[in-house]
Amino acid sequence: MHTILLANPKGGCGKSTLATHLASWFAQQDDMVCLGDLDRQQSSALWLARRPASLPKIHSWSSEDGVPGPTPKTCNIGILDTPAGLHGRPLRQLLKEVDRVVVPVAPSRFDLMASRDFFEELAEIKSVRKDRVRIALVGMRVDPRTSATQQMIEFLEQFDLPLVTCIRSAQRYVQAIENGETLFDRRSGASQADQRQWQPLLEWLVTRR
Ligand SMILES: Nc1ncnc2c1ncn2[C@@H]1O[C@H](COP(=O)(O)OP(=O)(O)OP(=O)(O)O)[C@@H](O)[C@H]1O
Ligand SMILES: [Mg+2]
Repeated sequence: MHTILLANPKGGCGKSTLATHLASWFAQQDDMVCLGDLDRQQSSALWLARRPASLPKIHSWSSEDGVPGPTPKTCNIGILDTPAGLHGRPLRQLLKEVDRVVVPVAPSRFDLMASRDFFEELAEIKSVRKDRVRIALVGMRVDPRTSATQQMIEFLEQFDLPLVTCIRSAQRYVQAIENGETLFDRRSGASQADQRQWQPLLEWLVTRR
C-alpha cells in the first residue's frame, strides 16, 4: 500500500484539509482509499462520516490512541491525518509505516518557527536519512502577492525539501468540508481553478521514484 502521512506539529496549518482532499482525489481515480485519523479531534473521521454515499467511496482506517490499526487489505492508498504536536517516538513509529509525508506550512512567522524544529527532527530520523520516506511541503492559505509569502519561500529554501505547490485561501474549502466533500467532488469552473493548484502535489504523489 502507498501510504501518505499529513504532519506538522503546528495546529491549524491544514493537515486535515490536505488529508480529506487527497483521499477524495485518489477515490476519484478509482483507487481503493482508506483514511485514518490519529487526532483526538477527529476532524477527518467526522468529515468522512458526513460524506454523501453518492460520492466516490473512501474507507475508514481505524486507530487506537493515535496508533493506526492493521491496514485494510483491500486498499492500495492509505492516508493518515495526524494531531498537532506530533513529534518524538510516535512520529518515528509512524515514519516506519509510510512512504510519503506531506507537510502543510502557512505563511506566518509562528508557523515557520514551529516548522523549523519539525524539519530538523525529520532530518534526523533514519527512514528519512535513508530516503525510504520522501517529504514534500505545501504552502497553505497562500496569497502570492504578500511579503509574508515571499518570506515563507525564502525561509523554506534553507531546507533540502521541495515546496511542491501553494494553495490559496478560499471559502469554498470551508464550505466543501462542511458537507463531507472536497473541491475534487465539485465540477464548477471556479473549483477547477483551485483544483489546478493541487496538480503539482498530485503528480509528486503518483510519481514513483
Ligand atoms: N485553503 C484554505 N482556504 C480557506 N480555509 C482553509 C484552507 N485550508 C484550511 N482552511 C481552514 O483552516 C482551518 C484549519 O485547517 P485544518 O483543520 O485543515 O488544519 P489542521 O492542521 O488539521 O488543524 P489541527 O492541527 O487543529 O488538526 C479549518 O477551518 C480549514 O477549513
Ligand atoms: Mg486536523
